[in-house]
Amino acid sequence: MSERIIGAFRVQPLGFGCMGLSHGYGPAVSDEQADAVLHEALERGVNFFDTAALYANGANERLLGRVLKPHREKLVLASKCGLNHPDAGLARRIDGRPETIRASCEASLTRLNTEVIDLFYLHRLDKEVPVEDSVGAMADLVQAGKVRALGLSEVSATTLRRAHAVHPIAAVQSEYSLWTRNPEIAVLPACEELGVALVAFSPLARAYLTTRLIDPSRLHTSDMRRHMPRFDMLNYAANLRLLDKMTPMVAELGCTPAQLALAWLLHRSPNVVPIPGTTNPAHLLENLGALQVPLGPEQMTRLNRIFAPDEVCGPRYNASTLLEIDTENFNS
Ligand SMILES: NC(=O)c1ccc[n+]([C@@H]2O[C@H](COP(=O)([O-])OP(=O)(O)OC[C@H]3O[C@@H](n4cnc5c(N)ncnc54)[C@H](OP(=O)(O)O)[C@@H]3O)[C@@H](O)[C@H]2O)c1
Repeated sequence: MSERIIGAFRVQPLGFGCMGLSHGYGPAVSDEQADAVLHEALERGVNFFDTAALYANGANERLLGRVLKPHREKLVLASKCGLNHPDAGLARRIDGRPETIRASCEASLTRLNTEVIDLFYLHRLDKEVPVEDSVGAMADLVQAGKVRALGLSEVSATTLRRAHAVHPIAAVQSEYSLWTRNPEIAVLPACEELGVALVAFSPLARAYLTTRLIDPSRLHTSDMRRHMPRFDMLNYAANLRLLDKMTPMVAELGCTPAQLALAWLLHRSPNVVPIPGTTNPAHLLENLGALQVPLGPEQMTRLNRIFAPDEVCGPRYNASTLLEIDTENFNS
């Protein structure tokens, strides 16, 4: 499968989402484990790595700064600003003011141990700040040589167009997978029209699509999935039944469910770049096997039907997190 384009960069079709190594799905893994999975990714030719200032309050960026430094020139390194835990508190805050973006970029450069960030995203739109102001500040960072390309995360098509008029946007990063199809409403078509990559986060539905997460009630108490409606007991039981409908296709194609889910994304559009995350080198190898899964139009249609949006039970985020999302023309 050929490389994908993100602005001026060419990347392997599957990137690597680094969040889970430090943040989100229970305690951070040990340095040894993080090093092992990152080195496996490098050896397998993965060249697009995703992090954010938010993840474990910068610890995830520090991890990448340490491990990726010797390989820096060969990689496309992406980070994000505008969503933080101020004062290391638990409550997170969206802040897209230009001065915050500038300070966040400096802090990320230091933690990432690099002179320049290849792709710098606004993690969430700050509804109190015109996107033109946030992106204007990010464009100044490009001008200053601190950032190479700009991205936006979880924005509407309208916001993308407004931002793109200020400075070319190389990528939109949004949740996109078989069970979260929202980008198909307006964002993916806008990306295709404008030549913007759609970086698909949580492409394995935070493990659901691998079929290996059977009982979310056993997740660690600090795991964020415990607060996501689709993972509550009733919804998850109903959602598990959809996975059974994938079983004949998995058998037909001789692949795993995770590979089928990633192959579906890769075949949706050449603009899509999934960034699955894992803490396990064996899972990484399995996920890369998705590149070899030959999906035809008939199989794509079957998958589209099995996971049609009204078949999936529960919203993807709880009510307070949904309020953070930029929803114009974008059904959360
Ligand atoms: N922009 C945003 O707002 C935003 C939000 C969320 C995430 N992200 C980015 O997107 C990246 C990916 O998202 P995600 O981590 O939620 O993605 P994901 O790939 O959908 O899910 C990761 C989960 O799936 C499991 N997993 C992965 N491959 C597996 C396999 N082959 N078999 C069994 N389990 C498997 C992982 O567990 P194991 O560790 O056990 O493999 C982990 O629990 C993040 O790392 C982050 O960089 C961005």
